[in-house]
Amino acid sequence: MPIPKLFEGCLSLPVISAPMFLASTPTMVIENCKAGIVGTFPAANQRTSEGLEAWIIEIKSALKAYEQSTGGKVAPFGVNLIVHKTNPRVNADLDILIKHKVPLLITSLGAISDVVDAIHSYGGVVFHDVVNARHGKKAMQAGVDGLIAVSTGAGGHAGSLHPFALIQELRAFFDKTLILSGCISTGAEVAAARCLGADFAYMGTRFLATKECQINEKYKNMVVSSSAEDIIYTNAISGIPANFIKQSVTEAGFDLANLPTPDGFDIGAEMTDEEERDQNNKIIAKPWKDIWSAGQGVSGVNEIISIADLVKKLITEYQQALSIK
Ligand SMILES: Cc1cc2nc3c(=O)[nH]c(=O)nc-3n(C[C@H](O)[C@H](O)[C@H](O)COP(=O)(O)O)c2cc1C
Repeated sequence: MPIPKLFEGCLSLPVISAPMFLASTPTMVIENCKAGIVGTFPAANQRTSEGLEAWIIEIKSALKAYEQSTGGKVAPFGVNLIVHKTNPRVNADLDILIKHKVPLLITSLGAISDVVDAIHSYGGVVFHDVVNARHGKKAMQAGVDGLIAVSTGAGGHAGSLHPFALIQELRAFFDKTLILSGCISTGAEVAAARCLGADFAYMGTRFLATKECQINEKYKNMVVSSSAEDIIYTNAISGIPANFIKQSVTEAGFDLANLPTPDGFDIGAEMTDEEERDQNNKIIAKPWKDIWSAGQGVSGVNEIISIADLVKKLITEYQQALSIK
């Protein structure tokens, strides 16, 4: 299926290293793009719009310097923007992405045609996260270039549909780029995504256990030691359904059998560094920072390695999987 020109001739593997709140950094983006896969980060990982601009400048200049010194071509990078009424920074962040002509915008929650048109005005590309065909059709009407099919078991705010069903349903009406997200942690799984009809694999959880990822060592080790049954899918933590590592949920003081009823999703509250305390003056554990997300794809994560080594490993596994006679 068609892949935007932006990605032609610069990828070593059809993989997007997915944006992860509090985890993705410019260093990860730069290492991903140097290794030939698309590097991304959420705009919200920088605490201000000015900080976001500084990160974009850092990434662009590091990639330019790398291309000049090697004569090679790096993969493009992308920024994720949560387009939701509770995100106070949407417009300011968007202005910065347009000013710096960020190659790829990944939108979550809201697909808005004005945003798509603004990115298209300089030749940028927009991919949008969806969990079902209804959201996919809305995003298609907004003019997005690609749909990210977020299936069951994915890290972060996951969907609930099986990837086979989701890809089938989206492909039935969408003939542009399809990206499959959820439990893709090995090169064989990247090949499986391609066999299903996806153009790209979207990998989050696997990149948590890399040397460059900025989450703490305990979190990384939990990703490595967990298996699929150690993951809980609940809306109790972040207000909308997401996957978290059970151990981090219980260590934050929750009873897994008796989780609280959520009172809605508020990205603005999740983005602040401010401490919240309960009536006993005890600090309330925050989703993402203290309660750690990962998908069922933890099963395929067995070691913490550098991004360069991980991409080499993924390429070998991908080629082996596709050469099976
Ligand atoms: C710790 C963590 C944080 C995430 N934060 C975001 C985010 O800020 N924005 C977003 O669009 N997706 C976010 N995601 C979802 C990923 O972008 C991606 O869809 C998902 O990780 C893919 O599934 P996998 O983890 O099974 O590979 C997050 C995932 C994880 C594990």
